[in-house]
Amino acid sequence: MMHRIIFLFVAFLAAFGLAQEFTTSIIKASPSSLGPRSPVDTPSAHINNKRQSSGSGSLFDVTPHSFFSSSIGVLGCKINTNRVAYWPDEVDCDNLCVKLTNVTAGRSVTLLRIDHSGGAHDISYDAWNYLATGHPAAPGTAIAGGAMGEVHYQYLPADNCKSLITDGSGKLPLMGANSMNFLSSCLSRDTWVGKNYRLWNLNDSLCHKGYDEKCTLAAGANQATCPHGLGSGAAVSITNPTDHKVMNIEYPTGKEVPA
Ligand SMILES: *[C@@H]1O[C@H](CO)[C@@H](O)[C@H](O)[C@H]1NC(C)=O
Ligand SMILES: *[C@@H]1O[C@H](CO)[C@@H](O)[C@H](O)[C@H]1NC(C)=O
Repeated sequence: MMHRIIFLFVAFLAAFGLAQEFTTSIIKASPSSLGPRSPVDTPSAHINNKRQSSGSGSLFDVTPHSFFSSSIGVLGCKINTNRVAYWPDEVDCDNLCVKLTNVTAGRSVTLLRIDHSGGAHDISYDAWNYLATGHPAAPGTAIAGGAMGEVHYQYLPADNCKSLITDGSGKLPLMGANSMNFLSSCLSRDTWVGKNYRLWNLNDSLCHKGYDEKCTLAAGANQATCPHGLGSGAAVSITNPTDHKVMNIEYPTGKEVPA
């Protein structure tokens, strides 16, 4: 009897060990553990063959971007549009704050990564000009140029980018009418955006149309609720344009131009 119990126990241990080994080998073989999501296939992406939505490293293709946009519906009138990163990677619910440093000069900018670019790592013209020269992209100090030399990047916890949100709330300002796909993906998991967003009833990222009012999202709802109907201001010019103008910086003059 004792023998049998010991035998069963040993058999159990052996099976358990095998099962563990088996699970480990499944994990080892799964594609997600084969390493980073492959970057967009551009020549420069091969230099930076590391996942760029986390961690740190070097970039060699940082280029100036002079027209504000946001693929996830961030409102340009409620953030500092001179500190935006337009990366080849899709926008992420957590890694949307990145610091770039000109190592030789010891100069850094911290950027909100809220848009997708075709190939290069674009950043707001003003941020690019500052990294390259130490001066803003303004008449007299703006320079022309393409990809910079080596720049160091480091992802920061997104709280470090709260000061780039200009309404003071620290909540990523999203368009109620047009950000729900992105927001739902962030709400389905425990993410920074899921805990730090605010929905607005503005109709476009450049804040030309709509109502400048907050909306709420009931638990489980897939549509925001706003004081005026969601998206009903599609043709309504916002009432106080001087507070809400999104300004672009013209390349290469450095002149401010309403978006
Ligand atoms: C870093 O700054 C220095 C000094 O302003 C400048 O000469 C250099 O070109 C900058 N580096 C890059 C990659 O732009
Ligand atoms: C915003 O309004 C314009 C018309 O003024 C309309 O064409 C566009 O589809 C609207 N966008 C959204 C997100 O509602």
